[in-house]
Amino acid sequence: MAKFASLVLILLGAPLALAASEPAATQPAATQPAAAGAEARAPVRWETWRAGNSVADNESLQRGARNFMNYCIGCHSLKYMRYQRMADDMQIPTAVLTANLVAPGSTNLDYITTSMPAEDAANWFGKTPPDLSLIARSRSVDYLYRFLKTFYSDPSSATLSDNLAYPTTAMPAVLSDLEGVKAAVYRQVKSSAAAGAPMENVFDHFETISPGNLTPDQFDGFVRDTVNFLDYVGDPAQVERRSIGLWVVLFLLLLSALALMLKKEYWKDVH
Ligand code: HEC
Repeated sequence: MAKFASLVLILLGAPLALAASEPAATQPAATQPAAAGAEARAPVRWETWRAGNSVADNESLQRGARNFMNYCIGCHSLKYMRYQRMADDMQIPTAVLTANLVAPGSTNLDYITTSMPAEDAANWFGKTPPDLSLIARSRSVDYLYRFLKTFYSDPSSATLSDNLAYPTTAMPAVLSDLEGVKAAVYRQVKSSAAAGAPMENVFDHFETISPGNLTPDQFDGFVRDTVNFLDYVGDPAQVERRSIGLWVVLFLLLLSALALMLKKEYWKDVH
């Protein structure tokens, strides 16, 4: 029996250890060391930034939902998601949902739609803001994180801003009151090693023009929560699926152990 108990412990221990190590959030890789000969300041490697979000973090999802309803729904819909489904999945009480998250004119049972008519949007922005239900799946969470964090001031653009992840985007820098306004600083590099090769501009780093209401760390958190929410919306069942998966594995392991014991019991006299 003692043998059996230790077997079960070992079998149970493995998936638990796995589960504990699973949500290893990747920190956004900020900068890389400057190459030899480059100026002292290390260039910002925004292409390597990671969202580092976790849909298992329910508080982050709740904050992300709030961010979306405050800053995105004016232009973007989530047409496959109902308010009530979102509230159920995130354990948001109905009273809080109705008072704080449901857009005016909508009810709990409605899909999350934007009040901006598509035609007006096309006139104002030259493009209709896309529905964001599946954007995390079509573009990846890391892309969304980079997109929301690389808006910079560009007075020559119609929106007065541009974006590194999506150059010439028609979306204005809607988070600049939180993040502040920043300029992109470029450095000149030779476009190839050949003698007389033309110089080209390569993005180097951002420079703050005016600070926002959030510190850079707080803004990173704001963007991570928002991206986390869009990750959830793209695959709402994933939160439940992951937690059920663990129990299914545990159950199967227990069943195997019992079957093994039963087999031993049956065969012990047959020799
Ligand atoms: C003032 C209107 C407006 C608001 C508010 C707004 N967007 Fe947009 N957004 C747009 C427009 C217009 C586009 C289309 C851009 C294009 O394709 O050039 C867009 C495109 C996008 C895209 C698609 C990018 C791609 O690669 O195709 C994402 C993702 C996005 N927005 C996220 C957000 C998030 C998250 C928020 C809230 C924090 C937000 N937007 C708020 C107008 C808006």
